[in-house]
Amino acid sequence: MRIGLLTGGGDCPGLNAVIRAIVRKGVDHYGDETLGFRDGWRGVLEGSFEPLTLDSVRGILPRGGTILRSSRTNPYKRENGVEQVRQTLAEHRVDGLIAIGGEDTLGAAKRLYDDGINVIGVPKTIDNDLGATDQTFGFDTALHIATEAVDRLHTTAESHNRCLVVEVMGRHAGWIALHSGVAGGADVILIPELPFDIEEVCQLIRRRHQRGRYFSIVVAAEGATPKEGTLEVSSGQVDEFGHERLGGIGHVLERDIESRTGYETRATVLGHVQRGGSPTAFDRVLATRLGLAAIDAAHDSGWGTMTSLRSTNIDLVPLAEAVATLKQVPVEEYQRLGVLFG
Ligand code: F6P
Repeated sequence: MRIGLLTGGGDCPGLNAVIRAIVRKGVDHYGDETLGFRDGWRGVLEGSFEPLTLDSVRGILPRGGTILRSSRTNPYKRENGVEQVRQTLAEHRVDGLIAIGGEDTLGAAKRLYDDGINVIGVPKTIDNDLGATDQTFGFDTALHIATEAVDRLHTTAESHNRCLVVEVMGRHAGWIALHSGVAGGADVILIPELPFDIEEVCQLIRRRHQRGRYFSIVVAAEGATPKEGTLEVSSGQVDEFGHERLGGIGHVLERDIESRTGYETRATVLGHVQRGGSPTAFDRVLATRLGLAAIDAAHDSGWGTMTSLRSTNIDLVPLAEAVATLKQVPVEEYQRLGVLFG
């Protein structure tokens, strides 16, 4: 078979491990030829690709990022996008595509499948917010990075009697914020799923001071939102999938907490540090298993499905199910852990 591969959306540690697994099994076991399309869907639209061989995937297992590069191109936002995809695949005799991506890349994959194109999805996102899979690779790595940052900020916060705000990634879901905050013993954790009351946040920080703890750590997901009408956090810019460019809640909190409590407050925005570098062992193994399942699915005519972690097994689920709903933090789970705040 001739299989096309692409990585779309924000990059994520473990992408190269998926690519390697697909190429290794595809070439060695099935005798496939593999084409790596560059820059996500853009490479398919523009017919830009490179052949992927055993040589080209050698040594990439522990490497962060993606050797194919990535973009947030949406074929449905391009004139004749679907026709261009069809044309590229026909011209290069590609039997089907394996798209490695998050909600946007897989949303486009599902629509292309509905439009008659052979596609299989592999879920990736550090945000861990994809439905129909128990966990995405990249999350474990991002969580380790964020937790280490919280640990480091703890010691300096304590030395200077400061309140330190850490802004972590998580547009619609607070998995990184909640887990790194709990693992690092944060005093306040703010997630997109539950709008926060800034006065309640300040109350928790004041209570610590009254108990003789003169420093605090606040972990906020970038998508955390204040209760309506209390604080302004929007940047206004959107990408091709209509997502607003986030980032900024940390500095809003810095100003507001300091002015309300009088305690010195500083913000740290972790940003893309969370997405860079080498994947953890867990993510390498998960990415490898998902890649192997994807190439098997291509040979079993499993088009229109996504590989998925279900408990300890790798299964196939319909792409439609995978993109139907985002997996957010259950509010009850947040509240259960919230008894430790302050
Ligand atoms: O989708 C993963 C993610 O890490 C989000 O948490 C974040 O909002 C977004 O990517 C930012 O990505 P970029 O800066 O590449 O647009």
